[in-house]
Amino acid sequence: MSLLKLFSCHLIFTLSVFTLAESANEYYRTRWSRCIYSSSDLSDMVYIDSQYFNKYLFAQFNSTLKKFVGFNEYGMRNAEFWNNDTNFLQEYIAALDTYCKHNAQIWDSAVREKAVKPNVKLSSVTRAGGRHPAVLMCSAYEFYPQHIKVSWLRDGKEVTSDVTSTMEMADGDWYYQIHSELEYTPKSGEKISCVVEHASFNKPMIYDWEPSLPESERNKIAIGSSGLVLGIVLAAAGLIYYKKKLSGRILVPNE
Ligand SMILES: *[C@@H]1O[C@H](CO)[C@@H](O)[C@H](O)[C@H]1NC(C)=O
Ligand SMILES: *[C@@H]1O[C@H](CO)[C@@H](O)[C@H](O)[C@H]1NC(C)=O
Repeated sequence: MSLLKLFSCHLIFTLSVFTLAESANEYYRTRWSRCIYSSSDLSDMVYIDSQYFNKYLFAQFNSTLKKFVGFNEYGMRNAEFWNNDTNFLQEYIAALDTYCKHNAQIWDSAVREKAVKPNVKLSSVTRAGGRHPAVLMCSAYEFYPQHIKVSWLRDGKEVTSDVTSTMEMADGDWYYQIHSELEYTPKSGEKISCVVEHASFNKPMIYDWEPSLPESERNKIAIGSSGLVLGIVLAAAGLIYYKKKLSGRILVPNE
C-alpha cells in the first residue's frame, strides 16, 4: 500500500465512525490518529494511533515505542501481526515525519502563529461582604491563543493576595476571555495597574486604573450637563425671539 493510500484510508477511518447495526444496538469501531507536540521546532512530536471498539482501546501505535501494542487478546494478536509486517510497520514509523511533522509545518503557520491581541477593560465592581471595600476587575476579551497571564501592580509592586481570577474561558469561536479581580482598600494617591502578558504582545502591557468618579456619578453629571446645554439653547432662542418682537414693536410708531 502506498503511503498516500495509507493516509487516505487513515482519513476515511478517522472521519467515519462506522457502525454495525444489530437490532436495537449499534457498535462503533473507531480509529483516532493524534500528532502530539508542544515545541515550535516539532522536536517533541509523538504520533499515537489508537484503535477502539465501542469505547474500548484494544490496540495502539506509539511512535516512541516504534511499534503497536495490544490491550486485549484480539488487540495483542493484531499488534503482533502488524509489528511482524516490516513494510507496514515502517510506514507507521515514518508517519511521524511524513504525516505529523509535515502537516504541523503547514498548520502551525496557519493557526498557531496567528495570535490575536486581547481587548483589555478595567472596571470597578461592587461586591457586598468582601474583606476590602473596593473591587477592581481586569477583563481581557477576544484573544488567541489561550495562554495568558493577568496580574496586578500597586504602586509598581506585584500584588498576590486578594486576587481571584477565572480560567481562560473559550468563547467557542477560537477566542478566549479571562477576568481577574483585585479586592483592596483604596489609599489616596496610589496607582493601581493591571498587567497582561500574551503571545500577541512583545512586552507585558500595563493598564492603569483611573480612579475617577464611579459610573453612576458620571451618568448624573452627563444628564446634568445635557440639561444645562438644553437650558442655554432655549434661553438663547427665547432671548432672540424677544429681541425680534421688541424691535418689531419699536418700528411700528415710525410708520
Ligand atoms: C508512548 O510511549 C511512551 C514511552 O513508553 C510513553 O511515555 C507515552 O506515554 C506513550 N504515549 C501514549 C499516548 O500512550
Ligand atoms: C511473521 O512473519 C513471518 C515471515 O514474514 C511469518 O512466517 C510469520 O508467520 C509471521 N508471524 C505472525 C505472528 O504473523
